[in-house]
Amino acid sequence: MSVFAGVDTGSVATKAVILSDGHILGHSIIPTVVSSEKSGLRALEQALAQAGLKREDLAYILATGYGRISASYAQGTLTEIGCHAKGVHFSNPEVHTVIDMGGQDCKVIKIGEWGEVDDFVMNDKCAAGTGRFFEVLAKAFDVTLDDLGPMSLNAEKRVTISSTCTVFAESEVISLMARGEVPENIINGIHFSLARRTTGLVNRVGLAKEVAMSGGVAKNPGMRALVEELLEAKLSPLAIDPQLVGALGAALFAKERAAARERKAVAAH
Ligand SMILES: Nc1ncnc2c1ncn2[C@@H]1O[C@H](COP(=O)(O)OP(=O)(O)OP(=O)(O)O)[C@@H](O)[C@H]1O
Ligand SMILES: [Mg+2]
Repeated sequence: MSVFAGVDTGSVATKAVILSDGHILGHSIIPTVVSSEKSGLRALEQALAQAGLKREDLAYILATGYGRISASYAQGTLTEIGCHAKGVHFSNPEVHTVIDMGGQDCKVIKIGEWGEVDDFVMNDKCAAGTGRFFEVLAKAFDVTLDDLGPMSLNAEKRVTISSTCTVFAESEVISLMARGEVPENIINGIHFSLARRTTGLVNRVGLAKEVAMSGGVAKNPGMRALVEELLEAKLSPLAIDPQLVGALGAALFAKERAAARERKAVAAH
């Protein structure tokens, strides 16, 4: 049975998925370091180790994410948008709108009947609308990323955060804390401001009946609850860790590319 790999080098995390016969044999999520090449290779080796395989066992490696441009270990590359659409379609074919919230940007993708990209919008490359902001926030409150969502859900009231830039919002948070505002309420305010911006993007692409979230921020229950509240829709589940969706899509494309390569080789003989 042929084995394929997808590597998604994002601005914050690098993810790898090893796929064979529609099953995930191994996966990994590691922090992205300055060298995207090194990040990709490390994630790949970690996922291969989990699968009990070696790089020579792979029929095709496809790289995606912003770091795909320096992935000399891969035979092909593709944009994250296509890979997220593909990965979501595989994980839940009913979903036709996906919100990918990563570390650096947020994209809303309209997915066609066969998992293709029908349309998409993305925010500016600005940390304020995305996961990196949560990391700044977690540091400011001296809590972990995992704590933030539940803290937001425990708020008694919502504090309005007016700054739209990370740097200004961070200083706004610090002055709110100095005034004695409860951390949960401030954290809820930040989640709300991010959720509102995200759902604003959704309205530009259109909301399908089944909508899901992908990317690392989809693991934040506080964010999911607010996105559902603002969209007035339930988020559909995906049969995979949402942060792995792009890497899964890349592995699925790797399989298609390997098949196309084989067909070409046969035709040439
Ligand atoms: N367990 C968790 N709970 C809550 N949030 C999380 C968790 N793990 C990761 N995140 C969030 O996910 C973000 C990273 O997501 P992801 O890996 O999708 O980003 P990326 O692909 O590197 O970024 P981009 O696509 O913008 O280049 C982190 O910045 C963090 O906010
Ligand atoms: Mg990403």
